[in-house]
Amino acid sequence: MTSNQPPSTRFETLFSPLQVGSMTVPNRICETTNGIGASASGGFLDERFIEHHVAKARGGAGWIGSETWILNSPLPPQAPDEFNTGVAALRYGLYQMPEFIETVGRFCDEVHKANSVAVFQLTHLNFAMAASPVPVADPYDWIPHELDDQMIEFIINTYADAAQQAKSAGADGVEIHCAHETLPHSFLSPAMNKRSDRWGGDARARIAFVAEVLERVRNRVGDSLAVGIRVNGEESRQGGYDNMEMREMTYHLGETGLLDFLNVDVGHCWGDHSYVPPSYHGHAQYRDVGKAARTDLDKSIAVLFTGRINDPVLAEELLQDGYCDLVGMTRAGIADPDFPNKAKQGRMIEIRRCIGCNRCIGDAVHSKTPDMVRRPMCSVNPVVGNELKWKAEYTPAENPQHVVVVGGGAAGLEAARIASLRGHRVTLLEQNKQLGGQLYIASRAPGRDAFEDQIYYQENQLQRQGVDVQLGARADFEAVKALRPDALIVASGSIPRVPAEVEGIDLPHVVQGWDVLQSAVTTGERVAVISQEDYFETPNVAEFLAQQGKQVEVFHKWTQVGADIDRYSISTVLGRLEQYAVKMHPNLRLRAIKPERLEFVSAHTGRHYSFDGFDSVVLVYGSTPDSSLYDEFKKDGSIEKLYLVGSAWVPRRIAEATQHGAHVAMEI
Ligand SMILES: Cc1cc2nc3c(=O)[nH]c(=O)nc-3n(C[C@H](O)[C@H](O)[C@H](O)COP(=O)(O)O)c2cc1C
Ligand code: SF4
Repeated sequence: MTSNQPPSTRFETLFSPLQVGSMTVPNRICETTNGIGASASGGFLDERFIEHHVAKARGGAGWIGSETWILNSPLPPQAPDEFNTGVAALRYGLYQMPEFIETVGRFCDEVHKANSVAVFQLTHLNFAMAASPVPVADPYDWIPHELDDQMIEFIINTYADAAQQAKSAGADGVEIHCAHETLPHSFLSPAMNKRSDRWGGDARARIAFVAEVLERVRNRVGDSLAVGIRVNGEESRQGGYDNMEMREMTYHLGETGLLDFLNVDVGHCWGDHSYVPPSYHGHAQYRDVGKAARTDLDKSIAVLFTGRINDPVLAEELLQDGYCDLVGMTRAGIADPDFPNKAKQGRMIEIRRCIGCNRCIGDAVHSKTPDMVRRPMCSVNPVVGNELKWKAEYTPAENPQHVVVVGGGAAGLEAARIASLRGHRVTLLEQNKQLGGQLYIASRAPGRDAFEDQIYYQENQLQRQGVDVQLGARADFEAVKALRPDALIVASGSIPRVPAEVEGIDLPHVVQGWDVLQSAVTTGERVAVISQEDYFETPNVAEFLAQQGKQVEVFHKWTQVGADIDRYSISTVLGRLEQYAVKMHPNLRLRAIKPERLEFVSAHTGRHYSFDGFDSVVLVYGSTPDSSLYDEFKKDGSIEKLYLVGSAWVPRRIAEATQHGAHVAMEI
């Protein structure tokens, strides 16, 4: 990023304050609500929660949306717990508890001390109860309970109660969540609202529920809080509203005079387009919905637009070009809570960008870990979920030493960065001509180039911090020993797994997916991708080949390719394969490769199947740790401070590798 302009004038609008109803937002950068699960005490706004979300205020974001409040519902007695807890949200009904409100007060104080505003999102989900008995979305297989007037009255009052509680705790604003999978959304949606009473009808009639909620909230809190709504700018579902219809609805909602802000995004919770857009999507791809709202609404109503904006320069452009008045930069703040201050100070190159991997939302929503144990995760920011550990343990090294790191993948890079930040002299040896390891391999796949941002960030940081980075470096036992390290961190990564049990695995037309992505091998026209992994690697390899015009068929070990991919990304990923007519064969495990055919066994029945006519066989079998250097030094015993990190220990994902590298570097 280069510019001769002084930093303060480059972001003239981004860092200018905005009056939104009764609250003055000190700048235009918003942490929109994100239920990352930062609380370690069942949804109370405890120290970890404060450290996580307030870090963004301290880092310069003007608006802190933290995590959504799930409001009470008129559930029948003994309704199952799952409806009561909610996912990626603060627990059902907590807002009624004085102990909770006390923690909210402490949180608001901390946000205010950092000169930001605290806005709480108030939510009723619609999967159990909705305007009409219509499934929330195709992937859901149950019909929600249709609300009667008494229930509706109960629910409307909960918004007013919660707003009052928020106000009493010191909040600056409340946002009625009317987007995504929420109950107000079910009233706004023509696909979901089939009512013929006063709550249903045409676009204007369908706003009745939201208008009534706003009225009731205003009656309770008056103008003392900024009040707004979050809406989905267009409903990507059959029979749903398009942006024109949403414009009509928001125009009429604006006319009520009850709104201070409109927070608009695009997408739903189950795929393409997703409101947590993965790396495949363009930055601010749906910015036009912001502009439409900005055009339609009275200027006294602030428009907040969100959707894969991770760059302050883009944020400034969106503001200057009239797309919005406030910019949601939520994952940008998870990846680097200090990015606003860095931008303000002209330290653009130091910003660690969100790479759009969706690990954060995936873990928040799909986690099977009990939420008292679960930690939020970010692939690039090791502090996320470990805030208290960092607060307690991150200190300059008492006794600066020479630390040698072998391997420049996610774990090695982060180990080198943190060790050097703490004052150690660091040498990093990487055998390849470029840094990144598996980050680099992943970045070769279509739609994953954002992964390179993390490599650039690390490269720049290591250079600025004076780390001696040696590329194409030999890092065998003798070479490393010659460097006389006080501490050695072996981050030598992993190598693609070769399934030795498969007959014919050595045939010349059998290649590895990693080599395909790096264009280190060529394949024929008809390619079989054999998949033994459940995340992004298989679809990435298949799409890479399909984009070259190859005929690709994927044979997957289990029920669905990409089964571990989060619900916000999966439709995009599989949709791209569908677009290239990639053929899927689930539940098959490879037994033998013959020159003319492939033999499989069913994952369920043990029956045998064979397929023929493939020119190439591409293996995606995960990887095997390469800890040989560590093993040698361990045996030798000459280096006391010896560590094995990342995939060289256990091949997992970027977040685990990043955290492992960081934590080891904190220990030295
Ligand atoms: C972990 C996580 C949890 C989220 N939870 C909510 C939520 O509870 N309510 C909501 O309206 N949006 C939620 N979102 C969506 C964000 O508010 C935001 O719209 C989305 O991340 C896209 O913006 P970004 O590209 O700036 O991250 C969540 C996002 C993340 C990453
Ligand atoms: S986990 Fe991935 S998507 Fe989420 S903030 Fe971190 S880099 Fe961005």
